[in-house]
Amino acid sequence: HLWTSSGSLPITDGPAPRPVIGQDSVEVLGASYPRDDFTNVTAKILDKVGRNLHNQPHHPLWLIKERIKAHFYSSYIGRWGNPLFSVHDNLSPVVSTEQNFDSLLIPPDHPSRKRGDNYYLNRTTMLRAHTSAHQRELVRSGLDAFLLAGDVYRRDEIDASHYPVFHQMEGVRLFTNHEVFSKVQDGHELSLFEAGGRRTPQKQETHSLEAVKLVEFDLKNTLTRLITYLFGDDVEVRWVDCYFPFTHPSFEMEVRFQGDWMEVLGCGVMEQELVNSAGAGHKLGWAFGLGLERLAMVLYSIPDIRLFWSQDERFLQQFRLPDIQQPVTFQPLSKYPPLHNDISFWLPEESEAGRESFTQNDFYELVRSVGGELVERVSLQDEFTHPRTGRRSQCYRIVYRHMERTLTQDEVRRVHQQIEHAAETELGVQGRY
Ligand code: DAH
Repeated sequence: HLWTSSGSLPITDGPAPRPVIGQDSVEVLGASYPRDDFTNVTAKILDKVGRNLHNQPHHPLWLIKERIKAHFYSSYIGRWGNPLFSVHDNLSPVVSTEQNFDSLLIPPDHPSRKRGDNYYLNRTTMLRAHTSAHQRELVRSGLDAFLLAGDVYRRDEIDASHYPVFHQMEGVRLFTNHEVFSKVQDGHELSLFEAGGRRTPQKQETHSLEAVKLVEFDLKNTLTRLITYLFGDDVEVRWVDCYFPFTHPSFEMEVRFQGDWMEVLGCGVMEQELVNSAGAGHKLGWAFGLGLERLAMVLYSIPDIRLFWSQDERFLQQFRLPDIQQPVTFQPLSKYPPLHNDISFWLPEESEAGRESFTQNDFYELVRSVGGELVERVSLQDEFTHPRTGRRSQCYRIVYRHMERTLTQDEVRRVHQQIEHAAETELGVQGRY
């Protein structure tokens, strides 16, 4: 369904969203997509499409992207003195579900496809949930080594480190037989692939163990050097085994930060079926994907992810450096006081098909859609099932805070009432006020 367009509300920051969600179609970046039963993108989210924070000079996300580029440009140089990795930062975030999921061997029933976790324009088109969505097309276009930066979209809860739009940097590198083994003694005897092999925790069935170990070593080395370049020589790094449908073996890198281990990226040896389908079947490759906000928050001491969307000069000006290598530590804007308000309602009855008619993410979405940047946090406080009628009720606490000024009780009350009203009309809940 169609959320309240925030265009008419007096409480949003920045320009009002254009009326992009029509009766029968959704318009994004100048193209029109027919709506269907999967459509769940909101005007608020579409308003972020095209902002391209990672391409705004001196924005902290641009700054970290430039630092990563500079490192790759200076460390990896091709045969003719050219940079080995090409950099792509302008691919449209509107992708097919085929690109976002199928091209990466994500099975049809995989939980990451859930309507409640993604922004669908319709059943076949969505806002990319990760930059991995472009791996296959870029490999198919003939690239052997590339970096790809972009905005990604996921429905999520609201707090200081989660926002439904964030930015990732993807990296891919492919190797020929010669590139893997030429520096190895008697390497000409060795081969990337082997027939009749088995998949083990170490390797895929078609890969030779020697090749995988060398590629995995190169991957970990490349990423350790990158993180050391960003954080300094003292940074502690560790590798954790994990699972992705598009890599095997797969790893997460964790960085020790203020005493805690923090996950910063996922990576692995690319599934050969993916590489084959991209027309590079004689090569073997690695891939990684990292979250730019995560890194920037730690590197620059940015305490709240919503600050990346700030247009406040007091924020932006702190990142206008004469030299991208110059260290920065963000000096917090004065913290304005939070205000909170609770909301309780009866949930709608389940529909006959057993399909859930209300999910928590629907409510978070609605709160964000109406309350925008004023909402700091939404949390489920209490759940209750009426002993006789079996009706379920929930109570949420909404914490309101503006990053740049003090909110008035009156202003918060108005927004809160709009949320109560929208929850009743859009989600079919019944308020208990
Ligand atoms: N796409 C993954 C995510 O968003 C991250 C990732 C993991 C990217 C492994 C990769 C990879 O390229 O090889 O969680």
